[in-house]
Amino acid sequence: MASIAAQRPHILLFGPPGAGKSTQSARLQQRWPIVAISTGKVLREEIAAGTALGRQVRDVLARGELVDDALMVATIRTWLGALPPEQGFLLDGFPRTLAQARALDSLLEEVGRPLTAVIQMELSVSEAVYRLGGRRICHGVEPEEIIHINDEGAVARCLARGGLLVQRPDDLPNVIVRRLGVYEAETEPLVAFYRQRGIVHKVDAAGSPEEVLQRITTAIGGAPG
Ligand code: AP5
Repeated sequence: MASIAAQRPHILLFGPPGAGKSTQSARLQQRWPIVAISTGKVLREEIAAGTALGRQVRDVLARGELVDDALMVATIRTWLGALPPEQGFLLDGFPRTLAQARALDSLLEEVGRPLTAVIQMELSVSEAVYRLGGRRICHGVEPEEIIHINDEGAVARCLARGGLLVQRPDDLPNVIVRRLGVYEAETEPLVAFYRQRGIVHKVDAAGSPEEVLQRITTAIGGAPG
């Protein structure tokens, strides 16, 4: 079985809020020579820095709605344009609409780097709500870590590192429900868009992060580096 490292993978991590996209993105980057972008994280950093873009999108994120397509496509265009030609990459949280998916196709065609795998992470609504309701960011230390409030070991490690446990504003119960609804209406239909290309791999996102990582690895057809 060929190593995904040898294939310079171009991966799209796809799944509902709470599926564990960012958790798995961090693990995949530790094992393979890929770089990742989380469009949600980019937006949160803009908000935290108080930039014009951050001020423009802050209320949209707080409501659990989607940021304007043109803005997100411009963000990805800039990011892809700065990548070295041989660099494998992973997209976490993009595309989220059909317009974004079509724009991504055009961008990747321009640079001759087609997607090699779409990982469709599947999780029940009840588990997603549990994970998001308990999610905390271990903030103020590098690297920041995503943890769950019920994971006593992770909480203790964060505090021992001098980190602060911060809850995302969009992890409040009413916003979680809104985000899950937006995912179902706007983003989930994209699976059909990619399925016809034969690159969609369904992965059960329940179980421990390590178990999910192994499933993704198997789906992609690679071996840990
Ligand atoms: P974004 O940050 O992308 O949010 P999301 O898609 O809703 O995904 P999350 O970050 O909530 O979840 P995740 O799947 O990454 O899970 P995580 O690993 O953190 O986007 C935020 C907002 O930005 C959007 O709502 C929108 O407004 C805007 N936006 C972003 N991109 C956009 C775009 N392209 N177009 C328009 N707008 C855009 O894990 C969640 C929790 O579960 C954590 O506590 C974690 O520790 C825990 N966990 C993870 N895996 C496991 C496991 N296997 N077992 C137990 N617990 C686990």
